[in-house]
Amino acid sequence: MLKQHLNRITRGDCLKLLRAIPDASIDMVFADPPFNLKKKYNGYIDNLAFEEYVKWCEKWLAELARVAKPSGSIFVHNIPKWLSYYAAILNRHAHFKHWIAWHAPTSPMGKSLQPAHYGVLFYVKDLKRAKIYEIRMPHERERRSSYLRKDYGGKKAGLHPFGPLVSDVWTDIHRIKHKKYRDDHPCQLPVSLLERLILMATDAGDVVLDPFVGAGTTAVAAKKLGRHFIGFDVDSMYKKISEENIKNAAPDSRIGDVWVSFYLNEVRTLRDHDWPALAGHFDIPADMREIDYVKIAPRRHAHLFAGASSEYRKRRRA
Ligand SMILES: C[S@@+](CC[C@H](N)C(=O)[O-])C[C@H]1O[C@@H](n2cnc3c(N)ncnc32)[C@H](O)[C@@H]1O
Repeated sequence: MLKQHLNRITRGDCLKLLRAIPDASIDMVFADPPFNLKKKYNGYIDNLAFEEYVKWCEKWLAELARVAKPSGSIFVHNIPKWLSYYAAILNRHAHFKHWIAWHAPTSPMGKSLQPAHYGVLFYVKDLKRAKIYEIRMPHERERRSSYLRKDYGGKKAGLHPFGPLVSDVWTDIHRIKHKKYRDDHPCQLPVSLLERLILMATDAGDVVLDPFVGAGTTAVAAKKLGRHFIGFDVDSMYKKISEENIKNAAPDSRIGDVWVSFYLNEVRTLRDHDWPALAGHFDIPADMREIDYVKIAPRRHAHLFAGASSEYRKRRRA
């Protein structure tokens, strides 16, 4: 039953479709379910009674845990309120690794504290067998001066030339705000968010499943990184949008043989263990203290980065 869905978007209710996926067959699942916040979807009514919504979530969360391999990971994206319920459910089926806080400021809502993050729950099926890679992001710099934001004092010489290991607070990936960069879908996530998760939890050739694929973000990220995908969505218009986005994405997000995530022609995420193979592709200052104000640059820029952001260029042309 897996083959029939592989590298395709299937229209239908994810609960029904998931039931046909064999146990322990998927390397990574990512779910970004409806938030039950009365969002305006094409057909789906995002307004269930509280109990009904939680009961429904309980069902698909159990299915996600069932289909994940022992080495597999389960990621669920939502607002903190719903993640607190999801965590209680997932704790029965899998093992907690992290609550990733994805910084996403909103306009003032008159709440006691201004909500400024979405969460991504990160669970694994088996703590000992889980496939998890350490990942790095570029050093954060001031926009104009390019100086490092963090003051490393006398420790600059020991800094990693590319950037720090990624923590569980993500401030460097932004929501898609401009209409011209998004499809006709109310909650489209940025591809670089999914690419970071995929690089962290899978290898090329692995299978990534998204039961609420929307505009196809997870599938696009998986394809660009040489992974297989399975996508479900109940809405035929979103299936169409996904298919178009997947068609426009190429499995080319890499430098040489190494898969990396790009954003606007810069590497946004790489795996720590790939750095030795990648370092030769960058101009790194001989005196590492210069890293304070010198951004390391990729060598032979045009050649290496040519295919890197076909999706971005497509959006720019549109
Ligand atoms: C929050 S959106 C996902 C957005 C997606 N992550 C993206 O980046 O485009 C939730 C999606 O779930 C779909 N959906 C709602 N109920 C569903 C169900 N029972 N089975 C499958 N898909 C469903 C909606 O049509 C919507 O596209």
